[in-house]
Amino acid sequence: VSVLLLWAVIGYLIGSVPFGVVIARVMGLGNLREIGSGNIGATNVLRTGSKPAAIATLLLDGAKGAVALLLARAFSGEDAAQIAALAAMLGHCYPVWLKFKGGKGVATFLGILLALAWPAGIGACIAWLVAAGLSRMSSMGGLFAAAMSSVLVVLTGFGTTYLLALALTLIVFWRHRENIARIRAGTEPKIGQKG
Ligand code: G3P
Repeated sequence: VSVLLLWAVIGYLIGSVPFGVVIARVMGLGNLREIGSGNIGATNVLRTGSKPAAIATLLLDGAKGAVALLLARAFSGEDAAQIAALAAMLGHCYPVWLKFKGGKGVATFLGILLALAWPAGIGACIAWLVAAGLSRMSSMGGLFAAAMSSVLVVLTGFGTTYLLALALTLIVFWRHRENIARIRAGTEPKIGQKG
């Protein structure tokens, strides 16, 4: 148990690095909190007008989820890997450094899924592209990819990760409460639009 607790802490700390905020600040793009939706993710970094900054945020927020999982898996096995991944997701969404007001978890969730069950991860990325492409809304992509993830892990033979996929999906939906309300009201901004 103490080993799992240790990986929960390490996973949380890795996940809690707010790359979007750091990149926006370092590149002189301003305070993300005062831009667009105020979110710390790649979608909102794109609203600063910098594609490279948005891509870097997407990759690094994704990588931290994968790294937390792979490190724990290498040292302590599959249970530790799943705990570290869940903790990294919580670290991204509720980082102590930002008074627990973090991101919405889509990039980190995709990174975790790619490391956890890569065929399902690729499937989720495709699901994101299809839903975001059709709707032109990033949130729609994230919600659809998350909703598909539990099905995808089972279909691709990673059924033992089903509960983790479901937990991550619930976190993504919970963090998108405001987006869901805007989608229903027809006021959710399209990708690249100032939110
Ligand atoms: O990944 C976050 C995205 O789904 C929504 O971000 O800034 O449009 O609320 P945002």
